[in-house]
Parts: sequence; C-alpha cells; structure tokens
Amino acid sequence: MTAVGDRPIGFGPLKRKEDARFIRGKGNYLDDIRLPGMVHMAILRSPFAHAKINSIDTSAALALPGVAAVITAKDLETLGLAWMPTISYDTQAVLAGDKVRFQGQEVAAVIAIDEYIARDALQLIDVDYEPLPAVVNARKALDEDAPLIRDDKDGQLDNLASPTWEAGDEESTDKAFAEADTIVSRDIIYPRCHPAPLETCGMIADFNPETGQLDLYNGNQAPHAHRTVYAHVAGLAEHMIRIKCNDIGGGFGNKVPVYPGYVCAIAGSIVAGVPVKWIEDRSENLMSTGFARDYIMKSDICAKDGKITGLRVDVIADHGAFDSTAQPTKFPAGFFHIVCGSYDLQASHVKVKAVYTNKAPGGVAYRCSFRITEAVYLVERMVEALALEMHIDPIDLRMQSFIGTEQFPYETTTGWTYDSGDYHKTMRVAMDIAGYEDLRQEQEEKRARGELMGIGISFFTEGVGAGPRKHMDILGLAMNDGADLRVHPSGKAVVSLSAQTQGQGHETTFAQIVAEELGIPPEDVEVRHGDTDKSPYGLGTYGSRSTPVSGAAVAVVSRKVRDKARAIAAQMLETRPEDLAWEKGRWYVKGDPSVGATIFDITERAYSGDSLPEGMEGGLDAQVIYDPPNLTYPYGAYIAVVDVDPETAHVTVRRFIAVDDCGVRINPMIVDGQIHGGLAEGVGIALMEVITFDEEGNCLNGSFMDYLIPTALECPDFELGATVTPCPHHPLGAKGVGESPNVGSPPAIVNAVIDALQPLGVNHVDMPCTPARVWAAMQGNAAPP
Ligand code: CDP
Repeated sequence: MTAVGDRPIGFGPLKRKEDARFIRGKGNYLDDIRLPGMVHMAILRSPFAHAKINSIDTSAALALPGVAAVITAKDLETLGLAWMPTISYDTQAVLAGDKVRFQGQEVAAVIAIDEYIARDALQLIDVDYEPLPAVVNARKALDEDAPLIRDDKDGQLDNLASPTWEAGDEESTDKAFAEADTIVSRDIIYPRCHPAPLETCGMIADFNPETGQLDLYNGNQAPHAHRTVYAHVAGLAEHMIRIKCNDIGGGFGNKVPVYPGYVCAIAGSIVAGVPVKWIEDRSENLMSTGFARDYIMKSDICAKDGKITGLRVDVIADHGAFDSTAQPTKFPAGFFHIVCGSYDLQASHVKVKAVYTNKAPGGVAYRCSFRITEAVYLVERMVEALALEMHIDPIDLRMQSFIGTEQFPYETTTGWTYDSGDYHKTMRVAMDIAGYEDLRQEQEEKRARGELMGIGISFFTEGVGAGPRKHMDILGLAMNDGADLRVHPSGKAVVSLSAQTQGQGHETTFAQIVAEELGIPPEDVEVRHGDTDKSPYGLGTYGSRSTPVSGAAVAVVSRKVRDKARAIAAQMLETRPEDLAWEKGRWYVKGDPSVGATIFDITERAYSGDSLPEGMEGGLDAQVIYDPPNLTYPYGAYIAVVDVDPETAHVTVRRFIAVDDCGVRINPMIVDGQIHGGLAEGVGIALMEVITFDEEGNCLNGSFMDYLIPTALECPDFELGATVTPCPHHPLGAKGVGESPNVGSPPAIVNAVIDALQPLGVNHVDMPCTPARVWAAMQGNAAPP
C-alpha cells in the first residue's frame, strides 16, 4: 500500500453494512410506513400540454364515500400556497388555477381513506379545459408567434426563461479560430431523459394540531434544505418541522426538487389534522418530475499544428414550463462551462439561453454535477469529430492536447481551477486494458469483411463537491455540510451527517473514515443521517458531493476528536501533547513507543470521574461545518467497443473499459459498484432512453413500456482500472466518483457507433442510438424526425 504524506491510500474493500437489510428485503422505504389514522392522497393531472382552465367541479368526487377532501388551486390560494418557489428563483403552480402548462401538471388533489378511493375520485372531478396551442420544441418556442407559456409572470413577453448566460472570452476565441488550420462544426442534441429511480417520489405529512409539529417522511436528497423551503412556504418555524428520510430507493437527482405533491400533502395534513400519504406511480414520475438534460447545442472546435486550440458553444436549454432547474444560484447553466474538458485550450466561449416549453419542469442533475454531463458529451463528441476531420487517431489528438501534469492547479479558459491530474497516464492505462492497438487491427480486418465494428473514446474531467461558499449557494444557502461525532464511554461512536444516502453505501464508507482517523473498528461506528432533528445542517447528497464535502467533514471532525484525545492522553501519560505521536488508534510518547494510551483508554478517561486537563469539558465529541476550498476534479478514460448489425442497425456494446481517477478511494469495492451502475445508465442513455413529445405536447414515454431502461442483457462485463491522483485540498485526498460513469460513458458509446459507421460516411448520430435512428443514419439521414 502506498501513502500520501502520512496517510495510507486505500481504506479497503469492506462489505456494505447496509446490505444486511437490503438483500433480505428488510429495507424501510417510504411506502412501508403506515401511521395510525393515516389517509391517502392522489393527484389529478392535466391531459393537455397547454389549456385554459375555465372551471373545476369537485362536487361528485366529494360525494364519493370515503373521500375526505378535494383540494384545488382556489383552496391553496386561501392558505397562500397556490404557487411555490423553485430552486432556480422561478415560481411553479402547486395546483394549476389559471391554466395548465404541461401534460401531467397537477390540477387537484383528493384525500380519501384509502388510495383506491382517492384514485377513483379523480375520475369524478370535472375540469372544463379550453385547449391552447402548445410548443414543445425549444427552438420553436423562441419564434415570435409561439404561444406565450408564462403569462402569469409580470412583463414576460416571450418564452425566454432567463437572459443569455456567457462564460469564457469571445474575442480570444475568434482569434483562435482565425489562426486554426482545422475547424469542425456540429449540431448536437443531448435529449431529454429521466433519472427514473426504482422508488418513485412521495411524502407522508403528519401535522399535529395540538403541538403545531409537522413531521414529514420523504425520500429526498437534501432534507435540511427542504425543511428550510417548507418553513418559508408554510410559515412555520424550522424546529417545528422534522423531515425523516428512511431508506431511499435511488435519487439520481430526481429527489432534489420540492414537488407540488409534497406541498399538497402538507396542506392536506394541516387542514385534516391527520397523516396524509402520497406516493406517485411510475407514469406520474416519468411525466411530471424533474427530467434531465434537454440541451440543444451548436459548437465549433478548432486545432492548430495537431493540437486542439479553441471551442465555441451556443446552447438552447429547454427548461420546461417552470424553471426548476437544479443549480447553484450564480450558475444558471450549472457547471456546463466546464465544457473545455481535459484540454489545454487557447480560448473558449460558451453561451446558454434558457427557454420555457410546454413540457414538465426539471433540468435536474441526473447523476451529474449540474450540467457537466451535457458539457462532457459535447466536448468529447467534438474532439472525436475533429480527429476524424484531421485523419488522426482520436487518442493521439487527446494526448497532444491534454493539460500536462505539471500545469496543475490549472485555470481553464472558462474560470475553473482544476486541482490535480495525470491525464496521459490514465489514458495509457485504459489503452493497455483495452489492448488498443490490437483492437484497431481487429477493426481493420472486420471492415475488410464488411462488418461494422466501432471503437469510441471519452476522456472526461468533472468538477464535483459543490461547493465553496465564496463561489456558490442554493437559494442563499451556503453549500456546506456538517458532521457531528460522539464517542461514547464504551468506545462505540455515532457520526451524524447532513448528507443523505440513497444507496451509495454511506453507512459503510463514512464509518470507515472515522475508523481510519480514530482507530475505532468501522463496525463500532454508527452513521446517522436523513433525520433533520438528529443531524447537523447541510445541503445534502447530489453532484457527487458526499465524499468531497461530507466525507471531508467527517475526517475533520474525527481529527478534532483526536486532538482532544491527545490532550487527555498527555495528562494520562504525564507529558506534553506535542511530545506525543499518533498511530492508528493510539497516542504514544515519541521517544518511547511502548508508553501510550489507546483511544479506548482515553475515551474511558474522558467520561470518568478522574481529572481532565485544565478548562477541558468531559466527554469525547465534536462538531464541524465543512466549507470546501474548491471543487474536486475526478476524471477518467473510457473506451467503448461496439458492433453494429449491418442488417438491423442494432448496436451491441461488446466491451467497455473504464479507468477512473477519483483520488484516494475510501472503499474501492463500493467505488467499483458505483462505476458499474453509472456505466449501465450510460448504456441506457446512449442507446435507448429518451422522453419525447408529439406536436400537441403529449408525452410519448410515460411508462417503462416506452421509456426503456437497460438491463444486464444490454451491458457488457465492464472492465475497470484505476489511477490514484490525490486531491491536494481534501483532507483524505479523495474526490467524488458517483456521477463519473454516467457522465463519461455516453460519448464513448456514441463515438464508437459513429466510428463503426465510418465505412458508410456517417459522421453524426444523436442519442439515443436506437436501431431506427442508426438505420436512418446509415441511409444518409443523420437526424430523423
Ligand atoms: O454523493 P454521492 O455519495 O452520490 O457520491 P460520492 O461522493 O462519489 O460517493 C459515492 C460512494 O463512493 C460513497 O459511498 C463514497 O464514500 C464512495 N467513495 C469512495 O469510497 N472513495 C472515493 N474517492 C469516492 C467515493
């Protein structure tokens, strides 16, 4: 095992503590919770994408035996809850009152004694809709005669959701292009897709009219931030609201926003004074909750003397009917401007324009750090296109253009400071695992026989771990995270976190961090999270921020406890703290290692009746709020090998090589699991997942019959490798990893498909590379309707 300073690398492949309950079906998910006196809520949704609401008649629904209440926008208006703020400083109708703006929008909520009666009652609500023309194409939404979607907003005269946002420098970019010897342009779409977590969204709201306490059971990725939003929206003090997240069946960004259903359940419980449960079904999840991507991108890339020099990007971002895009406040296009990728560019310029359409709101970071997925897809497609134009191997072009190891910390032309990297080495490791030269040889032989084999590369750099309070916030809340560590007299410890696991293994890895820092066995460290009454404030889990922010918080709080333990040990050993040295689990006298005190001896002393150093309080615990100095910048080299059936255009991903560098790995086995899952998602996004609409705004992918997700059958046996370049500013040298495989894999697969189709002269296909779409490209039609 190697070391970084005095820190050993590789905390070890400990089996996940949480799997003991998960694999036995003993997880406790939202739908498992039954509270005494609980009633059920169902939501009526709009069949139209755009329509005026003339009237809503709820009388027949109210008359159905078992129905307790029917809530409409009018009722919410009296509570001041008809509209709610979004994460992006827009407003969103909780229930539509004036008109509906997307198919599936919430129109009314029924509360009944069971969920079947609640759903039956939805059929009895009579809504008089007056259909309006809808617009679902973001380009068309900018036409002068496009229907105005947000006429609720004062002074809104068009469908622009925000002013154009820019990064980089236009003038120097123009200069780089003027001096270039090769320029390539492409129109590239990252289509609308959906995180589709296994467990859909839902809420149980339990308001106690006697005490005024509101308990919320909800699977969400940021419980503390949600509580602050509810406190503002409902006018309650934060300490009177408690959010409890039990086990969560996946989030992937879908459980970051506050949804209208949550607010309706809260309003229902406040009015009814009993617990109200609402769980959406799969179609509701796919049609109305936070979508991902939907970026229409136009880009030019240029090279000079065999090296990439400039990049120009112009984006139309489709935000749907309400701008509830998840991003830090000062970043209206998220971190998209990391689009200069892993390359030492002369200049770049990025423009992003956000547009309203009659589609569900969202723009959530589906396993991605705020639009980095779109950025990586674009730059890696553009680099591949440039290599084709220059007739050079795409890996050679990348190797000649990478940021050099000696250039870190590296300032990009759009304002990021990358922390560390050895890109050339990671690329070479991937080439070795793939047997790259042999693969190219095999491809040549197959091409000679008329077979379509493709090799696609992607080399991504991400910025994860949002983020430093000097740079970012969400709704005015600093993106910091807390950790609270208590070592009990028995030597067992509890660490409470503001991060919230959704299946990433935090109960294991965060215990490993405490174990590593204090020498307490990981099985003796209990990790608590997901209960706002029992955990410190923080902004939650998304954008691979758990390890960079909360993981750092846990390391720092453990070191605080260790420092206190040192002072106690010094008293016990009758020496000075500075004369002691630490080895895992024990302080000892520098000159005489046989004289020391273990963490268990010290803990006993901390709680005993014996004296403690002057001024020191008893017990062994500490609390921190961690403010990261910078994002962490994980990266990776991915190589996909595909076969395209010349007769059916079906794409098979035959091999996939992924070499990730996420700095020091706390639990390499969990990291590998994260990478497997993300790569499978990448196969889905590249080949089959898409949310589309017809001209009238009908969603065509509202079930898993039409929204295809990948299974083991479509995935190859992933071949993983690793390099370790520690993060210089993270206390453990770790970087985030959860999103990397989802971010890096789609461009590798699409690049491989295009590479396979080179003999047919195809130089562009948009995702998903379905057989129909690939077939059309093979016939010369790259962008079928
Ligand atoms: O925020 P999220 O948990 O989704 O992402 P992450 O910070 O990338 O962590 C995903 C899982 O991988 C967690 O259990 C981490 O503790 C683990 N991990 C690790 O063991 N070593 C790393 N360098 C990064 C993550």
